[in-house]
Amino acid sequence: MKIEQLYTKCLAEATYYIASKNEAAIVDPLREIAPYLAMAKKDKATIKYIFLTHFHADFVSGHVDLAIATGATIVYGPTATADFDFYEGKHKEQFMIGDINIQLLHTPGHTLESSSFLLFDESGKEHCLFSGDALFIGDVGRPDLAVSSAVSKEDLASKLYHSLHDTIMKLPNDILIYPNHGKGSACGKNMSSETYDTLGNQKKVNYALNPELSKEEFIKQVLGGLTVPPQYFPKNVMMNKGINTPIDDIITKGLTAITADQYQHYLAMKDVLFLDVRSPKEFTEKHISNSIFIGLDGTFAPWVGALIENINQPIVLIAPEGREEEAVTRLSRIGYDNVLGYIKRGVESWEKEGLKMNAIPCLEANNDKLLADNCSFLDVRRIGEFNDNNIKEAEHLPLDLNLKANTLEKNESYYVYCAGGYRSVIAISILNRLGYKNLININGGFTEIKNNSKIPLKECRRNCPTCACSD
Ligand SMILES: [Fe+2]
Repeated sequence: MKIEQLYTKCLAEATYYIASKNEAAIVDPLREIAPYLAMAKKDKATIKYIFLTHFHADFVSGHVDLAIATGATIVYGPTATADFDFYEGKHKEQFMIGDINIQLLHTPGHTLESSSFLLFDESGKEHCLFSGDALFIGDVGRPDLAVSSAVSKEDLASKLYHSLHDTIMKLPNDILIYPNHGKGSACGKNMSSETYDTLGNQKKVNYALNPELSKEEFIKQVLGGLTVPPQYFPKNVMMNKGINTPIDDIITKGLTAITADQYQHYLAMKDVLFLDVRSPKEFTEKHISNSIFIGLDGTFAPWVGALIENINQPIVLIAPEGREEEAVTRLSRIGYDNVLGYIKRGVESWEKEGLKMNAIPCLEANNDKLLADNCSFLDVRRIGEFNDNNIKEAEHLPLDLNLKANTLEKNESYYVYCAGGYRSVIAISILNRLGYKNLININGGFTEIKNNSKIPLKECRRNCPTCACSD
């Protein structure tokens, strides 16, 4: 028996490859299926089942492509409905893979069809649970995403309580919990950085598994403190219920190298977005005018999903040489399938051809200019980070909110910072397009400000609802 966790940091997502004898199964595959085909080929195994713990909201799964490529059966839990052929498994139904068995356990709560998959090893002993978004390490899946006119978030939280107490917590303490997400995922709020654990340990440390917690208190705690889900979540759910463009077609189209003539053509089309995925340093030094920055070396896909409202947005990529396919693939993982191509050759060559270029001024955090009394600061971190500690008098405009709805002065200069200098460059690139031109990036962000500058800071109490502390 072989079990491999394939963890994708950008999405904080875990897919699982399971093999026994000459048969294999995949749990919650990502959009690109080549890695799973390669693993099965290496093991001389046939992929027999594709298990989906639920209709994912935060990524587009490749289950249909994988089923077409392998002939495997897609399995969802009870109540699932979709446009493609799949098998609706029943609670406690077993699926054989080589010498091992996988049992579907219907564990609704995060969504109605949410199911977990319990693996019995060759000796028939419970070995691990692929818990999807029913149970994370340190947390549980948020029950507010699959709300409808027929089911409220409280109903779903109540179902989650019963799934945990009546099904999952009754399993042996020594089984491993393999969740679908880890720290940083917007599918939960309090996940640990560990990507697996034993059920017994989770019973000790996971607030949601506290046996003393009444159902009412559980519902209150699980629903408390949830942030607004990213705008692309319902769109990805719809895509996961449908049949989408095959990933190979998306990559082929996205890997079209764009010539200078085509560039001028796309530039004239107002709905085309130029997306620069290089490093913050490269972007601030020189970029194509009006392009926006969301770098590959960061939580790229979630920021694209949060900030680019139109999932069908025509996109032209400006990518580091050799990483174009990676960029197209990572965009398609969250359903941004409309990449028209990428800018061929470096940005310098475009400048020589007379294309309009831009730069973002940057300052080091220890620059004395930042100590002047009339400096205006703009903090683009999340509310919790801002409340922890910030610069006195800084304006707060979190990047995860709608940047259009701001109260900034168009003619005023702002020194912009985030935690480390990734989000601030994203924010400046978007605000530049909205007509805010006097924005200066602070290199290294708040980390550098705190460690290497004399800018006065304002410390607030943790968890205050707004930054209204007087100290
Ligand atoms: Fe989910």
